[in-house]
Amino acid sequence: MNVTIIYGSDGGATKAVASRIAKKIQARTVNVAAAKAADFEDCDLLILGAPTYGAGDLQSDWEANLDTLKAANLNGKKVALFGTGDQVTYAESFVDAMGTLYDQVVAQGGIVVGFTDTDGYEHSASTAERDGRFVGLALDQDNQSSQSDKRITAWISHLM
Ligand SMILES: Cc1cc2nc3c(=O)[nH]c(=O)nc-3n(C[C@H](O)[C@H](O)[C@H](O)COP(=O)(O)O)c2cc1C
Repeated sequence: MNVTIIYGSDGGATKAVASRIAKKIQARTVNVAAAKAADFEDCDLLILGAPTYGAGDLQSDWEANLDTLKAANLNGKKVALFGTGDQVTYAESFVDAMGTLYDQVVAQGGIVVGFTDTDGYEHSASTAERDGRFVGLALDQDNQSSQSDKRITAWISHLM
């Protein structure tokens, strides 16, 4: 299966997670700042990764390149999402950017796979939560980095 991971990252945490996932499943990684519509389209599984900034906002490169995502044909495409965030300092907007990307992908006809349980997290609100589950893999490299490898492995085995 041909997998592309498109990520945005200010501080490097999300980029590092993208690389870790890529290594485990032999995926290609593309920084969203340099992504073309074809990068979103030319794969069997598309994985999008984003940290949340502000108070629930998309990371700046995602914000600046949202039109590239919107221009991509995602109709019927299998898409998985991961979000990095800080559930302690930003408990009210934990991994909200993943919720924003979810809504956009669904609006473009993408089929989102890889929902996960919210057990083990201590946030109070997240727009990435739908019907009691996260719409993708939520990682907290600020407070729960020791749990990330286990979470990534479980998510990947469910996805592939
Ligand atoms: C100014 C600022 C605002 C943030 N806002 C949120 C937020 O609303 N929700 C959240 O879950 N994390 C928030 N975070 C935490 C980051 O998303 C988290 O540290 C992430 O791992 C950063 O990824 P990066 O290193 O790839 O940029 C914020 C961090 C900073 C510095």
